[in-house]
Amino acid sequence: MVPHNGILENIRTRRSVREYIDKDVCEEDIKTIIDAGVHAPSGFNSQPWFFVVIKNRGMMQRMSDHCRPLLLKELAETTDEVAIDFRNRLEKEDFNIFYNAPVLVIVLGSNEGFTPDYDCSLCAQNMMLAAHSLGIGSCWIGTACLIQDNQEFMEELGITPNYRVIAPIVLGYAAQEPEEPEKKEPEVVWVR
Ligand SMILES: Cc1cc2nc3c(=O)[nH]c(=O)nc-3n(C[C@H](O)[C@H](O)[C@H](O)COP(=O)(O)O)c2cc1C
Repeated sequence: MVPHNGILENIRTRRSVREYIDKDVCEEDIKTIIDAGVHAPSGFNSQPWFFVVIKNRGMMQRMSDHCRPLLLKELAETTDEVAIDFRNRLEKEDFNIFYNAPVLVIVLGSNEGFTPDYDCSLCAQNMMLAAHSLGIGSCWIGTACLIQDNQEFMEELGITPNYRVIAPIVLGYAAQEPEEPEKKEPEVVWVR
């Protein structure tokens, strides 16, 4: 992936990457990406985020194996086309919800914050754009939020009960440039 530094071009060309090459992301780049995250605005400047960086592929595989059957159950009755497509991929034994990316950064929000869901989402978007500007691909893996209900994972990751998983973001180098998915025309009301 080539770097995209102009902000508008960066925003327009960022894609969710679901195929990664076997190349690590260096810790300096991960720190730069997290630093971009913490420059996001937050309600009352509460900065309620907390980050867990996972580079242990065995652990990511265990987390994926935990989430896969739960997701299949959740999606069993879906009639949504995109969800059906995702379910078909989930059904394959070797499907990894993290797409075998080398790094997972979990953005957690403190329940003591004022608006942790908004704040951490803005933080995560900053991180994905920063990654893109460094030529690093990313994807928000919402399906991984299911690990929250597994006490063993929470303890292993050192996540205390006052924090909630909001944005699990994988990082890595894209195997190929993803195609742009269809973006709807915005519905806008102008009041002049
Ligand atoms: C809250 C949220 C949860 C998401 N969860 C997943 C996920 O679990 N797996 C996945 O492959 N993509 C996930 N995505 C990525 C979206 O599918 C993606 O943003 C969307 O298809 C648009 O593509 P783009 O990011 O390339 O513009 C998630 C995105 C958001 C914002």
